[in-house]
Amino acid sequence: MSRTPLIVGNWKMHKTIPETVDFCLRLKEELGAAVGPRVAVAPPFTSLLAAAQVLKGTSISLSAQDVFWAEGGAYTGEISAKMLAEVGCRFTIVGHSERRQYFHETDEAVNKKAAALIKEKLIPIVCLGETLAQRQEGAAFAVVEKQTRGGLEGLAVKDPENLVIAYEPVWAIGTGQTATPEQAQEIQVFIRKLLEKIFSSPMAREMRIIYGGSVKPENISELMAMADIDGALVGGASLQADSFRQIIHGAIK
Ligand code: 13P
Repeated sequence: MSRTPLIVGNWKMHKTIPETVDFCLRLKEELGAAVGPRVAVAPPFTSLLAAAQVLKGTSISLSAQDVFWAEGGAYTGEISAKMLAEVGCRFTIVGHSERRQYFHETDEAVNKKAAALIKEKLIPIVCLGETLAQRQEGAAFAVVEKQTRGGLEGLAVKDPENLVIAYEPVWAIGTGQTATPEQAQEIQVFIRKLLEKIFSSPMAREMRIIYGGSVKPENISELMAMADIDGALVGGASLQADSFRQIIHGAIK
């Protein structure tokens, strides 16, 4: 088994261009050439080009936070996969719970977005996870199954490196209430079994399933100790170069 850990900083709607440049310069300096896990940052669209220029030639990758599925056309306000590839993105987050909640993104939309990314050789980071009410009702597994199947079925993934799943329980996002390593592992091993059915066993074994929701320097090591946690999607703690660097160092399995 050779799943290289992946740590992604999701900046959400934070950081101006000068702040982005500053952060990327610091990260580049602090991580040096020898980084254990794969690392990516996901700035807002307006900062992608500036980040790409600073990170060029480093091992730190660039991710977008969303994409639209059409190749082009009259879609005011939207950005295509080709545009993201052109600016230097390697990854793109799709289906984040904030997009599902505030912008009514459905599993079908997530599926179309992921397919558009794969076509442009970008790696989708497909987010999914249950709300607190769904967990309390005992529906966590059913919700995760629906989102996994709806978001991933039919995707033309040829290499397990080219798709990442992020399990982000909604109740753990921005709340400081991280899922316990056991809670995350329980769902993530379930997702891996679904990946076996959707793709194949060898593919599922090699695909990265990362965890997101109040990941901090203090809890990354215990999360990474779980067999099916292959990295983290970090929100708040990715905004300071120092805490993000500590998470990256703590993520070495
Ligand atoms: P926090 O790390 O701030 O909880 O955010 C998690 C998240 O939504 C990452 O995509």
